[in-house]
Amino acid sequence: MQKILVTGGAGFIGSNFVHYIIANTDSHVTVLDKITYAGNLESIKHLPRDRFTFVRGDIADAATVDPLVADCDVVVHYAAESHNDNSLHDPRPFLDTNIIGTYMLIEAARKHDKRFHHISTDEVYGDLELDAPERFTEDTPYNPSSPYSSTKAGSDLLVRAWVRSFGLRATISNCSNNYGPFQHVEKFIPRQITNVIDGIRPKLYGTGENVRDWIHANDHSSAVLAIIEKGKIGETYLIGAEGEKNNKEVIELILSHLGLETDAYDHVVDRPGHDLRYAIDSTKLRNELGWKPEFSNFDAGIEDTIKWYRDNEYWWRPQKAATEAKYKEQGQ
Ligand code: NAD
Ligand code: DAU
Repeated sequence: MQKILVTGGAGFIGSNFVHYIIANTDSHVTVLDKITYAGNLESIKHLPRDRFTFVRGDIADAATVDPLVADCDVVVHYAAESHNDNSLHDPRPFLDTNIIGTYMLIEAARKHDKRFHHISTDEVYGDLELDAPERFTEDTPYNPSSPYSSTKAGSDLLVRAWVRSFGLRATISNCSNNYGPFQHVEKFIPRQITNVIDGIRPKLYGTGENVRDWIHANDHSSAVLAIIEKGKIGETYLIGAEGEKNNKEVIELILSHLGLETDAYDHVVDRPGHDLRYAIDSTKLRNELGWKPEFSNFDAGIEDTIKWYRDNEYWWRPQKAATEAKYKEQGQ
């Protein structure tokens, strides 16, 4: 049995990974999470006591991080400030957590010679033209656009440098946009679903032509487990599930599943520097590690996600009013 330290395990994707590991391995999981506005202990309740430990703390605090890293076999690093819109209004926490926090973790992993897996994003590569054939690969040059994506790019480069200069036993994965249950209502899909539930019209930034490459969070988790088990040290793996859709199509799909007219949404002010298109070529992960996604039907995945938000209002209701108040101030 392995001992896995999961940072950010009370967030959307980190908590999905924790449930995935408990269900599919015999590993013990320790979650280290600061419980910022984005962390939610409700997402990791009812886990078996003999297989799961929770520690509240900051990844940027060396005294917290060091003993936890010393006591595990593998660190899987999800903790981050994750929302682009927030990074455009208040970048500082993104530097503290995404850069300094990652630095503290890789220093501890180096000191104690631990296997390290760094969770990153396709946004480090910048964006692609709409309607172009190109997709991101592991060789695409870094070209981040926002404070969020530039801090994620910085953290990736730190990990790469620690591998090369100090022999850190690390891998990196860069995944596309995740969807599914337990995602904070600030993010695009849950925001629109919960808006409709609350009788608010969905909000589309700009023209809505921007394309995102959607993957179900469970498929992200299965890919990360494959990389931890079979990935080659020092390598980067792109994770994606052939899920390109433009934002307008996604809003229309949500509205139709909720029984409303597909044009019952508002266009609002665009995000500054808004990336046009993300698209992942995950050939390396599929060919070298034999991974493939299970959730290939986006329509069905959205239907299940809508049902989850309808059935679990207790989970998202406490954040909804403050999230919408913040968007209103920003004209979004
Ligand atoms: P999230 O915002 O839902 O969760 C982040 C978690 O990190 C929260 O539980 C929060 O409390 C915790 N956290 C924040 N700062 C911390 C700190 N200083 N110390 C300890 N814990 C802290 O984010 P998410 O969407 O689940 O993203 C998780 C990771 O996956 C991030 O690294 C993100 O860059 C990456 N990622 C996300 C997506 C996506 O579509 N959401 C896609 C690719 C990669
Ligand atoms: O690509 C991976 C990234 O995906 C992750 O690294 C980030 O952590 C994650 O937040 C996500 O970033 P995006 O900026 O793509 O996700 P977001 O949900 O904020 O927005 C998705 C798209 O929808 C984007 O084009 C902006 C648009 N949008 C968003 C909101 C909140 C709207 O049109 N209306 C909205 O209300």
